[in-house]
Amino acid sequence: MGNIYIALVHWPVYNREGETVATSVTPLDLHDIGRIALTYGVAGYYVTNPYESQRRLVEEIIYHWREGIGGEHSPQRQRALSGAKVVATAEAAFDDVAALEGVEPFVAATTARRMPGALPTRELADAAGGRPVLLLFGTGYGLTEDLLLAADAALEPIAGRGDFNHLPVRAAVAIYLDRIFNGNVRSETEE
Ligand SMILES: C[S@@+](CC[C@H](N)C(=O)[O-])C[C@H]1O[C@@H](n2cnc3c(N)ncnc32)[C@H](O)[C@@H]1O
Repeated sequence: MGNIYIALVHWPVYNREGETVATSVTPLDLHDIGRIALTYGVAGYYVTNPYESQRRLVEEIIYHWREGIGGEHSPQRQRALSGAKVVATAEAAFDDVAALEGVEPFVAATTARRMPGALPTRELADAAGGRPVLLLFGTGYGLTEDLLLAADAALEPIAGRGDFNHLPVRAAVAIYLDRIFNGNVRSETEE
């Protein structure tokens, strides 16, 4: 499989009422997903937000830890945010990966919802056919149906033994990356 990129998407996502909104960035997600990205060796980590004020805030947080005084106190956080990039939209992340790789990435969106025709994670490498992969993760109440349908594939949701599967986004990122890199994939349709 080609390089793996991830994007934490703040628009378009649903709110509690099912409306399409942009969400605010959560610093905890920013740091923890950075650590996860570094651990699994993803090639790039994008934080997307359509609002300039939010992008500026994220840039400031990244600067604080990457170049500012924060990094001197916590080299781990410095490294965790070393690969993070802030862009306006998932499309901008797509364009950046395409420019870096010289080929358009295969876009795999994630959701806790069951989507018809969802792709089992173990089939992702074959589906991508050697292209880089851009994984999209939602915030708020999840990526909109339009974005899920616009992706090349929606991955099968993660399921355990419980009757609840609404994971924190940080956990979902770690589980998918572990399945992708370590191959420990149990489809929710298997027993
Ligand atoms: C909807 S947000 C929830 C945000 C929440 N406030 C939090 O603490 O992270 C969670 C995102 O993680 C991913 N996710 C969560 N549970 C999932 C599951 N069971 N299967 C696949 N992806 C999941 C999806 O990308 C989803 O958009």
